Amino acid sequence: MKIKKLSKSNLYLWTGLRKQLWPAPSETANESDGEEIIRSAHLVSFIALDDDDKGLGFADASIRNDYVNGCSDSPVAFLEGIFVTPSCRGRGVAKQLIDAVQSWGLEKGCKELASDTALDNVTSQKVHNALGFKETEKVVFFKKELTKSF
Ligand SMILES: CC(C)(COP(=O)(O)OP(=O)(O)OC[C@H]1O[C@@H](n2cnc3c(N)ncnc32)[C@H](O)[C@@H]1OP(=O)(O)O)[C@@H](O)C(=O)NCCC(=O)NCCS
Repeated sequence: MKIKKLSKSNLYLWTGLRKQLWPAPSETANESDGEEIIRSAHLVSFIALDDDDKGLGFADASIRNDYVNGCSDSPVAFLEGIFVTPSCRGRGVAKQLIDAVQSWGLEKGCKELASDTALDNVTSQKVHNALGFKETEKVVFFKKELTKSF
């Protein structure tokens, strides 16, 4: 297995994997996200490939300058999403992707790598714990529609 940074040459593999985690409104939406990640110094994606260059999984990460729950430093590296194709799970693919994200975060001068996952995604919580993340906070997000009637 090898881990590669997202680039123009592997963008098509990344979009194919990414839409399995986050179905995008269109193919071009994922492609334009990918192009932005390639251009940006504070965004990154890594792709895991097998020996035949088949995509096994990906991880997206960013540098977050705003406050990140549970962190004591700023900016921090943030794992925005990680996905491993179902038939390749349990073989250390996520571990290698997160190792690559950690190295990138260190290169960017960060002292902490943060992440989040849904309350009902118990597998992801177990994987985070297994890979050295410590649970910090549980939060509930709210929203209110803004109208002129209040
Ligand atoms: C979460 C996910 C990325 C893990 O990928 P993976 O390649 O199977 O993980 P790894 O094989 O690298 O395992 C990493 C560690 O987690 C542990 N682990 C993996 N799957 C596990 C499971 N189902 N239950 C408990 N522990 C598990 C492994 O034992 C390993 O620990 P170890 O290093 O101590 O042996 C994968 O299950 C996935 O894509 N899920 C759907 C998408 C998702 O929920 N993403 C996270 C939120 S964005």
